[in-house]
Amino acid sequence: MVEADSLVKRFGEVIAVDNLSFHIEKNEVLGFLGPNGAGKTTTMRMLTGYFTPTSGEVHVNGVDMVENPREAKRFIGYLPEHPPLYPDMTVKEYLRFVAELHGVKKIRERLDYVQKVCSLSPVWNRLISQISKGFCQRVGLAKAIVHNPSVIVLDEPTIGLDPEQIIETRNLIKSLGEEHSVILSTHILSEANMTCDRVMIINRGKLVGEGTPERLSEELQSKRNIALIVGREIDKSLFSGIPVEIQKQEKLDDKFRLELSFPAEDDLCPELARRITEAGISLYQMQEKKPTLEEIFLSLVKEVL
Ligand SMILES: Nc1ncnc2c1ncn2[C@@H]1O[C@H](COP(=O)(O)OP(=O)(O)OP(=O)(O)O)[C@@H](O)[C@H]1O
Ligand SMILES: [Mg+2]
Repeated sequence: MVEADSLVKRFGEVIAVDNLSFHIEKNEVLGFLGPNGAGKTTTMRMLTGYFTPTSGEVHVNGVDMVENPREAKRFIGYLPEHPPLYPDMTVKEYLRFVAELHGVKKIRERLDYVQKVCSLSPVWNRLISQISKGFCQRVGLAKAIVHNPSVIVLDEPTIGLDPEQIIETRNLIKSLGEEHSVILSTHILSEANMTCDRVMIINRGKLVGEGTPERLSEELQSKRNIALIVGREIDKSLFSGIPVEIQKQEKLDDKFRLELSFPAEDDLCPELARRITEAGISLYQMQEKKPTLEEIFLSLVKEVL
């Protein structure tokens, strides 16, 4: 379990992380989502003891990361943004070396496990200097989990992987999340959607949204969007006196497709249907358009800019 309380990191004038507090439980996958420069890597470096916070505290399984870094770091497996690997070792030698450093007991078993789950068989006995970028990323992931840490921190874990490996890695993260606490960063929204139980949207070092991907979609939207198919073109005067905006109107063969929006707190659907049919216009379809996480993310990030 990780608890971060009022974390701040300054680099001179730049406030990279601006008062972030959060916690993560066992059996949970938490995603940090944010654009480039949002502060994701800096936050992870503070969680893993690589950076000392300017202020604020991090506790890992109750141990203070600033006061007892050696003890706190034992609980953590970390895949950094640029995994430092030893180019002159083979993959197997390197992972064995890391496992020994961590005092892993059943080294053979753990090596077999990471070889399998990180799909490392094709390069197992190759020199790290000679393997491709995607395989280096997988070695970095294997290094992060080889000692079976309770907290796994992954900075952009799928970057540089091929599509098949991206799917496998996401599945691996999900299964790791069944027994561990996993924190990952990504700027890929669909990735957060697919792998995370909870998402924190970060922009300019600040938390701008938080929740399950579904909850973010539902609660953070201030407008409802409705798509309609109707028999003829609609003039905006039809909606006079109600806060409805026509976002789009296009001709589809002999019909028209409209996108309307109105404030989320008013349910104007019955009123819309009534006005349209009373004007003698056929209403063929009326459907709510849920915003994607991407649209919410962009609107949240824009508000802060
Ligand atoms: N060592 C450092 N010295 C000075 N400024 C830094 C340092 N590390 C990060 N920063 C600044 O802190 C801010 C946050 O950077 P960070 O790397 O944490 O962002 P990020 O969310 O990980 O971005 P990306 O998606 O590009 O990886 C940026 O403005 C960056 O320039
Ligand atoms: Mg980063």
